[in-house]
Formats: sequence, C-alpha cells, structure tokens
Amino acid sequence: MNDATIKTIILAAGQGTRMHSLKPKVLHLLAGKPLLKHVYAMCQKLKNNSVNIVYGHGGEQVPLELHDIDVHWVQQEQQLGTGHAVQQALNQVEDQDVVLILYGDVPLLKADTVKQLLADVSVQTLALLTVELEGLQGYGRIVRNKQGQVIKITEEKDATDSEKLITEGNTGIIAVNGVHLKKWLAQLDNNNAQKEYYLTDIIAMAANDGITIATRQPQNASEVMGVNDRSQLSYLERIYQLEQTQKLMKLGVAFADPNRFDLRGRLVKLGQDVEIDINVILVGDISLGNNVKIGANTSIKNSQIGDDVVILENCVIDNAVIGAKSKIGPYARLRPQTHLAEQVHIGNFVEIKKSNIAQNSKINHLSYIGDAVIGSKVNVGAGTITCNYDGANKWQTIIEDGVFIGSDTQLVAPVTVGENATIGAGSTITKNAPATKLTLSRAKQISIDSWQKPDKEKN
Ligand code: UD1
Ligand code: CA
Repeated sequence: MNDATIKTIILAAGQGTRMHSLKPKVLHLLAGKPLLKHVYAMCQKLKNNSVNIVYGHGGEQVPLELHDIDVHWVQQEQQLGTGHAVQQALNQVEDQDVVLILYGDVPLLKADTVKQLLADVSVQTLALLTVELEGLQGYGRIVRNKQGQVIKITEEKDATDSEKLITEGNTGIIAVNGVHLKKWLAQLDNNNAQKEYYLTDIIAMAANDGITIATRQPQNASEVMGVNDRSQLSYLERIYQLEQTQKLMKLGVAFADPNRFDLRGRLVKLGQDVEIDINVILVGDISLGNNVKIGANTSIKNSQIGDDVVILENCVIDNAVIGAKSKIGPYARLRPQTHLAEQVHIGNFVEIKKSNIAQNSKINHLSYIGDAVIGSKVNVGAGTITCNYDGANKWQTIIEDGVFIGSDTQLVAPVTVGENATIGAGSTITKNAPATKLTLSRAKQISIDSWQKPDKEKN
C-alpha cells in the first residue's frame, strides 16, 4: 500500500515485572539508549509515518524522560491486553490509514523488514510478521488451514497440545488497514485463559471476513526478540554490538576483538586504518581520523580525535578535541572542554579540564591542568598543578609559548607565565612570572651538622 498514511502504534504499557526495577521496562538502555528510542529511531526510517506510543499506568516516567521525541502519547490506565492497548490510540487512526503495530520492548527490528510488511498490506490484505523458532515458549502460535492459509493465532495459554507443536510463532508485529482494525477491535472479548483483550483475535476475524493474511519472516530472529528480563536485555545488547562491529570492520576498522567493544552512540566521522584494542567504549558522537589507535580499556565520549592520534591504555576522554599526531596516556583523563592542538603529549596520571593546549606542548606526568591556556612548545614538569579554584570561583592560568615549568610547581590562578620563561622546580607561583626569566619560589636549602638519627627505643 504505497502512499497511505501510516499510523504506528507502539505498545509500551507493560510493567516489566521480570526486570525487577523501579524503571519502566522500555526505558532500560540498550547501547546507551532506551529500548523505546530504538523502536522510535527505526520508525523514522519509514515514510508518511506518525507515531503513537501507548504507555501504562505508573509509566508516566516514559513520556517525561522521552520528551524530545515527536510522538503522540496515549495512556492505557489498566493493562487489559494488547487489543485493549491498541484501542487506546484508535482515535488517531483514519479509516484509510495503514496501522502498524510495534512493541516498545523489541529493539532490534529492522526498517527493511517493516517496509516489506508495509508493501504487503492493503484493504484486502493484512500483513503479519511471524518467526520460526525452536521452543516458542510464550509465543502465540500461527494456525494455518490445509491450504496453508493463516486462519487464527492461538495464545500459548489457550493452545491445544497439537497447536503447541506449531513452530511458527506470532511476533506481534502487524500492518493492517484502519477501517478493518476499528471494526475488529470493537468485537474483541476477553473470554480466554488470561482474561485479556487479545489483539491476536483479530486474525480469525480477518480470515472470516475473507481478508488475506500475508506473512513474512525477519532476516534474523533477533529482530523480533523482546526484552522481558535482564538476561534477554544483555543478550540483545551483544547482538547489537556485534552488528555494529561487523559494520565498522566493513568500513576498515581493525578490532583486536570485536566481542570486546561497545559503541553507545555513533561515529560521525571515521577515517581509515583505525585500530581499536580490547574493552574500548565509545559513547555519544565520536569522530575518529585516519590511523587513530585506541588502547585497551579506554572510554571516549562525545569527542573528536584527529589523524594519527595514539591513545594508550586506560584513558578516559570526555568532550575533548584532540589534534592530529597527539599522544595520550596511558592513564590520562581529558575532561570536558579540553582542546589539544597538533602533536600534544599528555602522559600518565594527567587530568586536564577546560583548557586549550597549543601544538607541540607536553604534560607527561602526574599533573592537574584546569582553566588554562597553554601556548606551543611548553613543557610542563611532573606534578604541576594549576590551583584554579579558591573555594568560590574558578580562575585562569595562562602559560605562553616556549615556557618550561619545573616539576612540582603550583600555579595559583589567576596567573600568567610569560613567553619562554622558566619556573624552577618546587615553586608556588602566586604572581605573574615575566617572559624569558627564571622565576622560582622555595625555602633556602639547609643542612644541620649536629643532627643525629634517633635510636629505636628499648623497653
Ligand atoms: C504477545 C502476543 C503473542 C506473541 C508475543 C510476542 C497477544 C495477545 N499475544 O504475547 O501472540 O507471540 O506477544 O512477544 O498479543 N502491552 C500493552 N498493554 C497491555 C498488554 C501488553 O501495552 O495491556 C504491551 C507490552 O508492553 C508489550 C507488548 O504489548 O510490549 C506485548 O505484551 P506481552 O504481555 O509481552 O504479550 P505476550 O503475552 O508476550
Ligand atoms: Ca512479551
């Protein structure tokens, strides 16, 4: 049915008891994103589609948390069954619309699969997605007549022993013409094992009305798997992650082990010959240049990494920009608003926050740099600290080009160190240090001639 308007109804009112969580099930995260948002993102790949989401009593958190998505929210006060849930959104449906029914807890369904269903549906045809599975526990069974035509769906709890042997299950995903759906839903009753209004009962009604029931199956069963408990959620997470690593390897990424990588966001830019070691986590919008190497156990969030950057093991990088040919880590932490120009070296146990560091500068050991502007070719010695916070306000440290900061220096902001200055090791710098000179502050070194080491006391 090519140009009909599609009204998608996503069922998301289930409580998710088996998650044992205060959070509604559809807000649990897969790849860092709520389950329901995965379904919504898939819907955005469909044309002429408007989305309705049915959420439950006590599920008010769902529209609150997902306030940024463009959908019509409908509350189902009581969970009286899937048919009842669909009824709640029917006032959004015009007779000539195609209604697409999806589940908010089935996150891996592909737009291509749904497009095929939508191609099948018409006034004369209902399109149903089914799945062949070993052990269809909990699924409704697709019952066919001798000619192979679908005549009804029987829920497992209502199934006869022979129906239970059927290996074709109902995924719950249906595309159907609006006028028919309205008519059939009005005829539902709850005379069944679960005393629920079953959406699945419309299949027998359709068959009785002489409507063809066209079935399709997804490419992969994982597309139609739902999340009912934490184990299923973790299973789908791994499937999703493996799909992503497969895609990234096709684009040229070298993984030490694709089973030990997580992308919780997207690569907005990806260069060639990127190498990723084990246990790397990428979160949010990430851009990676050519020849980027990321060491083991590193996590990177919303950051831009330039060409030929090497990030060694165990780094944490958040909202940073790293210029080409820079070298980071091991054990470095780059916090938000860190901007590194080209060929900057940040070494072990160095924390940088809200600072700009120009090209060819080095901060290699045990330092804290916050609210600083550092020029080019600056060498910051081990144990240097910018004292940026006076307990009430943050202040800036400026270190101009070519400066050498001796080890164990404290720079008490606001303070400026002029171009090509040298700061002696162990200094506490509280006033601006002039360009080119050696500035230092330290107590005079003395040695005590009469000093005797104490003996251990005997008792
Ligand atoms: C349903 C189907 C079954 C199918 C299975 C696939 C019916 C009667 N049965 O069974 O044929 O094999 O899905 O997983 O449709 N929901 C609401 N409101 C309600 C009830 C459910 O929004 O009142 C939502 C749930 O949040 C869930 C979806 O509908 O997203 C399916 O509900 P669930 O209770 O899991 O149905 P099943 O018994 O698994
Ligand atoms: Ca279910």
